[in-house]
Amino acid sequence: MKPLIAAAHAAMPGGAFTTYVLDDEVDLVIKSGKGSKVYDVDGKEYIDCVNGSGPMLLGHAHPEVVEALHKAVECPSNFYLLNERGIELAQMLVEAIPCADQIKYGVTGSDATLYAMRLARAFTGRDKILKFEGGFLGGNDYALMSMSPPAPQPDFPRARPDSAGIPRSIEREVLIAPYNDLTAVKRIVEAVAGDIAAVIVEAQQRCIEPNPGFLQGLRALCDAHGILLIFDEVVTGFRLAWGGAQALYSVMPDLATYGKVIGGGLPVSAVAGRREIMQLANPRGAPDPRKCFTGNTTCGNSVATTAGIATLNVLQRAGTYERLHAIGDRFRRGAAEIFARRGIAGQAIGTGPLSQICLTDVPVTDYRSSVSGDLKLQRRLMTAMVQRGVLTHGKFYFSLATSDSDIDRIHAVLDDSLQFILS
Ligand SMILES: Cc1ncc(COP(=O)(O)O)c(C=O)c1O
Repeated sequence: MKPLIAAAHAAMPGGAFTTYVLDDEVDLVIKSGKGSKVYDVDGKEYIDCVNGSGPMLLGHAHPEVVEALHKAVECPSNFYLLNERGIELAQMLVEAIPCADQIKYGVTGSDATLYAMRLARAFTGRDKILKFEGGFLGGNDYALMSMSPPAPQPDFPRARPDSAGIPRSIEREVLIAPYNDLTAVKRIVEAVAGDIAAVIVEAQQRCIEPNPGFLQGLRALCDAHGILLIFDEVVTGFRLAWGGAQALYSVMPDLATYGKVIGGGLPVSAVAGRREIMQLANPRGAPDPRKCFTGNTTCGNSVATTAGIATLNVLQRAGTYERLHAIGDRFRRGAAEIFARRGIAGQAIGTGPLSQICLTDVPVTDYRSSVSGDLKLQRRLMTAMVQRGVLTHGKFYFSLATSDSDIDRIHAVLDDSLQFILS
């Protein structure tokens, strides 16, 4: 084991920052990133399709972000109270996000989804949350339910915790439904409608697109039963479109959560939504039993929000989203050609600059179809791609810095890696 990796193992369980780890034979330590590439401490170059698990939508070290940060770190502090940059980013978010009358900051996406669910419970006076099997909403106890339940999965709507240490009582407050199956959602909701505070959904769940009418159906169902609709836009926000998934699919949630892109790689998150709901997070005024706690020590941090503002300023320019969609489409088209030529059951799913390879020819419409292929082979494919200089953790997060020739190279590596794992 290389000394730095050994040091990581000594200091942290599994030598890991999060739950995601690369296979031992390709484990690496990143030194730096520039544009579409990252470099490990041994100087090896990778086309980066991890992109910080999504925040680096401009690519690494974008000159305008770097310049803004240089100025911001002249006073690299945390003030806890209002500062100009934190207010400026909040204004930009309110202007850009269709459902946002107001926002409140968190630091991580997991804070944002926790606060959104809390606000929904306070607003409706109900406790239960409905989420979808296979959806990832972050690391809080309510979110970590049935994200990746192994087969045989429990019957809907029973939740299966994705981690030890989550109280059983929380398990009973989360209902699980199959994504893209409106009939099943209706059945689950109608059985306990008066107890459900919110339906929370990634409008595009992981890389699975919503069926036509699915999100509209959720909206109508929520309206019929006084349930709030929350879009988790931590991944989709400012990535699929400037106004996020709610703009792309023309469905307005009551609340939406943001992270990743809005901090440009630094920790910023937010919950956004209708004024009457957001006002429950207003710390001023008379005591009110419905008032909600939201907030973290570094909320609105001036350095982190500076990176977010600089990132959004670039994304706002004409042509950005056409380019981001063109990159993803080029990847998916080329991958489909490779699978067809090799006669392999495989597909690249996703929308815009976000994709995932599934080694199955079953149409991928929900969690169970997404895991219907050979997952071990899929993992070996990703490892073979990393070995050949394409850094991916299963998903492909492309950036504005990803060039057409990067995509061509990724195709060549995919082709070669398939040859390798199948030989
Ligand atoms: C859709 C979604 N929601 C929430 C989160 C949690 O964000 P964070 O890792 O910043 O807590 C993630 C993280 O990947 C996510 O993909």
